[in-house]
Amino acid sequence: MLAIHNLEVVYNQVVRVLGGVSLRVDAGETVALLGPNGAGKTTLLRALTGLLPIHNGVITKGRLLLEETELARKAPERIVRAGLVQVMEGRRIFTDLSVEDNLRAGAHTRRDGEVRRDLDNYFTLFPRLAERRRQQAGFLSGGEQQMLAIARALMAKPRMLLLDEPSLGLSPLLVAEVGKLIRVIQQQGIAILLVEQNAALALSLAARGYVLEGGKVVIDGPAQTLREDPDVQEFYLGGAGQRRDFRQAKHYRRKRRWLS
Ligand SMILES: Nc1ncnc2c1ncn2[C@@H]1O[C@H](COP(=O)(O)OP(=O)(O)O)[C@@H](O)[C@H]1O
Ligand SMILES: [Mg+2]
Repeated sequence: MLAIHNLEVVYNQVVRVLGGVSLRVDAGETVALLGPNGAGKTTLLRALTGLLPIHNGVITKGRLLLEETELARKAPERIVRAGLVQVMEGRRIFTDLSVEDNLRAGAHTRRDGEVRRDLDNYFTLFPRLAERRRQQAGFLSGGEQQMLAIARALMAKPRMLLLDEPSLGLSPLLVAEVGKLIRVIQQQGIAILLVEQNAALALSLAARGYVLEGGKVVIDGPAQTLREDPDVQEFYLGGAGQRRDFRQAKHYRRKRRWLS
């Protein structure tokens, strides 16, 4: 469904951030894109959604195909209408608008008359958003804002969803909620490119995965193979992740001591 061939992206005419990335996502498939901070994951999504120009970036090489449509240099709106919709990093919702108006905004590229019905469907799917439908979205908790950002993207009726680090900054409980939500989206047959630093979450949801480092794919394969790969285990599943959790645990223990 989505095929990226040899993608090269340069910022500010000098900084080459992606150096020949190839990747594919089949219809209805979930694919994980892993990699450390600065690897170029968000840049790859910007290239797909036509948002590179506003960041002073250009595609200098490669092809991006959504089925037969070449995406490179298309306007963001046309790409959304073609069925490719992104949930941006850091849950960029409209904080001043109500929850319901955020969802309506997600449907602005649609020309069909079923927005109302979909709105009701999503409120059934997200009861916490339904209770707050008239509230200003800026007052939602971090987890609720992430849910809203995803629900808003779904309102555009995507065939494929690009999720940029949906678990970032969420508590383990909310990360699990995001995981559940992603499974619901999968059941609707929507393909997903899941960008995550949380490799355990991403590989539990995806059929296949790619690891991006320094703007190049360093490993790719079925999720199972990646989970068993010693480097992935050391750098993405074991080592760093556990150290982070460990540090966090220590931090909380210290905090509790202050509080008691
Ligand atoms: N607008 C920009 N101008 C110049 N460099 C940028 C810009 N956006 C990102 N970069 C650089 O590109 C690299 C990849 O960034 P990014 O795609 O955000 O990585 P990731 O999402 O994997 O953390 C980083 O070195 C970052 O500093
Ligand atoms: Mg990023």
